[in-house]
Amino acid sequence: MSMREQWGTRAGFIMAAVGSAVGLGNIWRFPATAFENGGGAFFIPYLFALLTAGIPLLILEFTIGHKYRGSAPLSYARMNKKSEWIGWWMVLVAFVISTYYSVIIGWAISYSIFSFNLHWGEDTETFLFENFLQVTEAGQFGGLVPGILIPLIIVWAITLGVLFRGVKKGIELANRIFIPTLCIIFVIIVIRAVTLPGAAQGLQAFFEPDFGAITSGGVWVAAYGQIFFSLSIAFAIMITYSSYLPKKSDITNNAFITGFSNSSFELLAGIGIFGALGFMASQAGTTVEEVASGGIGLAFVVIPQIINQFPALSWLFGFLFFASLVLAGLSSLISITETYVKALSEKFNISRAKAVVFGGGLAALISLIYATRGGINFLDAADYFINQFGVALLGLVEVVALAWFMRKLGTFQSHANAISDIRVGGWWKVCLGIITPVVLGYMMFDLFRQNLMKQFETDNGNYEGYPDLFILVNGWGVAAAALIIGIIFTVFRWKNKPESDADEGA
Ligand code: ALA
Repeated sequence: MSMREQWGTRAGFIMAAVGSAVGLGNIWRFPATAFENGGGAFFIPYLFALLTAGIPLLILEFTIGHKYRGSAPLSYARMNKKSEWIGWWMVLVAFVISTYYSVIIGWAISYSIFSFNLHWGEDTETFLFENFLQVTEAGQFGGLVPGILIPLIIVWAITLGVLFRGVKKGIELANRIFIPTLCIIFVIIVIRAVTLPGAAQGLQAFFEPDFGAITSGGVWVAAYGQIFFSLSIAFAIMITYSSYLPKKSDITNNAFITGFSNSSFELLAGIGIFGALGFMASQAGTTVEEVASGGIGLAFVVIPQIINQFPALSWLFGFLFFASLVLAGLSSLISITETYVKALSEKFNISRAKAVVFGGGLAALISLIYATRGGINFLDAADYFINQFGVALLGLVEVVALAWFMRKLGTFQSHANAISDIRVGGWWKVCLGIITPVVLGYMMFDLFRQNLMKQFETDNGNYEGYPDLFILVNGWGVAAAALIIGIIFTVFRWKNKPESDADEGA
């Protein structure tokens, strides 16, 4: 155990945790999700989810990693042999996410190069879907697209190269370079965005509350999903990262710093993007609602349109925006991939290098699916289902297992308090033992009900209207495979038998 790799400094750990949290979820997903779910009113469920689930779960996962000093499966196995499957399920969910997350970073690399001559032209939507992605029908592959394949190879080369070098010389060093650079770039972009003519109109649309929206269950699901994905919790990352903390480490303070840094970045991204949307709407003499759009469309269709209309230095701001996506994405992909690299190396007692080759290599190979002409459809379905029935569901399973079945919260609270500046009080147990399971439990029930019912509706009510079979295989199938394959991993014997909770001490 004394051989375990460790972070060089506390700042190094915080930088890596923030690097993991701040990712495509903040820049690409948050502004669109907030806008689609009631604008300003989204902040109420968002803050509720952050304070009652996000930060408490972050403290919980930091404590687990620190106490058991293992990847998610090893930590869960050490806690209780019967709970190892939760750790593997988390790792498998991370594996799936890494396969498509890498592809989006690849698109961002291409777009940062396209920025130099505004290669996307006037009709940025046609460019994205027809010229760049060359999209074909849902369910078909249609061959690899070289424009996606080449940057994808670069993404994997960087990620696996960093992981090869280990925790301190690889992950920590990369984040020490990426995160400060990202912060500088992002501040420049946001200042420019909010000083564009018409920016105020965009900010108003972003912050103006639609209180009707918060009575809808879907908005709450979106808020929890956003918080979990964005904070990198419930999919093995924070457990793995905190397992490299030295014995004498602060836990709660680090969790607050990570959580608030992530949300500040998220808010800043929202302000920047909506400021720019306000500018675009004012140029076109229309409303922000008309020009805003969700997900992929926002970053890769609308932002290039805005860049086209920039008063000066459009190429530079285009480049900076997509470079920020690349940096934020890479630092997160590194953390996502590290979850299974470490888990494989511990379970099968193989070197880091071998685990990188097998785990990372397989993920890179599978990611080729999303580099085909039909890739975007597979990506869209996998992303939706793995987030709802992977990440959010795992958040629920994790709190219920630890609070209700294993009754570990008291032990974890003492463990965290013994070494942290900020002591967690009874509120933490109430959040994890009662509020989160109840709210999330109800939401998951409703989500299952709605999505399952859609399968039986005669008119196509599927997510995004995809065909039944497509959703069954690439949505439900992918989410279920993460759980099933996760369970299969628990069947293999540990090459190094994990010590039990009792051996570890508190
Ligand atoms: N936390 C990472 C993100 O927000 C996964 O993208």
